[in-house]
Amino acid sequence: MSHKTTGNHKSERYPRFDTGQRIEHALLILSFTILSITGLPQKYPDTGWGEGMIRLMGGIELTRFIHHTAAIVLIVGSIYHLVGVGYRLVVKRVQMSMLPGWKDVVDVVQSLGYNFGLIKEPPKMGRYTFGEKVEYWAVVWGTVIMILTGFVLWNPIATTRMLPGELIPAAKAAHGGEALLAVLSIVTWHMYNVHVKNFNKSMFSGWLNRHEMEEEHPLELAAIESSPAKTVDPEVLRRRQRLYLPVAVIFSLVMLVSVYFFVTFEETAITTVPRQTVEVFSPAQ
Ligand code: HEM
Ligand code: HEM
Repeated sequence: MSHKTTGNHKSERYPRFDTGQRIEHALLILSFTILSITGLPQKYPDTGWGEGMIRLMGGIELTRFIHHTAAIVLIVGSIYHLVGVGYRLVVKRVQMSMLPGWKDVVDVVQSLGYNFGLIKEPPKMGRYTFGEKVEYWAVVWGTVIMILTGFVLWNPIATTRMLPGELIPAAKAAHGGEALLAVLSIVTWHMYNVHVKNFNKSMFSGWLNRHEMEEEHPLELAAIESSPAKTVDPEVLRRRQRLYLPVAVIFSLVMLVSVYFFVTFEETAITTVPRQTVEVFSPAQ
């Protein structure tokens, strides 16, 4: 993705995220928000707010059901992300711009120097700044942890058939702790970066304007201006697509079947026993 729309300099806009990426991010906002709202009250059920929120959401059974449904959306979104990354690498053959490199280390040091007033110029960065890379990998890593520990909590009996029982409380601690970390980092760091530092609309509009490119991604802007957008021969593209499509379909099917298997595997030990009315005989005194 590397060409701009033409026009005068002021109205020029540069593609940042395609429709697929924006849909993916929207799914992430939706699932992450619901998971946080239904998960955190379960971590703090003894507090007034925790209990109140669970009651507002229709009780613990419903809260957990919503949590599990949003978890499936997050997992399906993650599978979609993997297929999308594969498409960009195998079919479009784009460079992996999210990979960290030595330049990021230099940028961190230079940024610190600039913020402390020791250096006059901030570092010039490319398509993804070091902060954006950290944020992306934090989401990837956090999601892997949440899915793995979430599956342990979902299937505790099956887990303890293969692995030591201590894993269950450990998974619960890791799941709850990572949840808190993720929510706090999104509401402080991510919201600061995309709303306060510069009101960035690119994840919704798909574009950045020239001023934003000059401020945030001057090296990417320079690369766009110095070399014309690379176009792949349509026949080569079609050939790669024909090869990639069956692989992507098989991979997605295997993943989806595995997810279905994992989420239906057992009635968990912590499945809330359905409410029962019990008749109690109390002899008159
Ligand atoms: C970023 C996403 C997520 C957040 C913020 C989140 C948050 C939480 C929190 C705070 C708890 C309570 C932990 C405790 O009691 O200490 C919880 C429980 C749980 N979570 Fe998640 N979670 C997320 C993703 C997932 C995923 C992907 C799965 C499934 C693969 C999952 C499955 C569970 C299960 C099974 C429980 C135990 C209670 C229940 O059955 O509902 N969670 N979650
Ligand atoms: C209302 C909530 C949110 C808004 C308004 C928002 C907005 C944005 C915007 C504008 C960008 C593009 C920044 C750029 O130019 O690169 C972005 C990127 C990104 N967002 Fe969000 N976001 C929200 C919630 C989330 C959540 C909940 C997550 C993950 C749990 C998330 C993960 C990411 C990631 C990984 C990127 C790419 C890395 C980056 O550019 O920082 N976002 N978001």
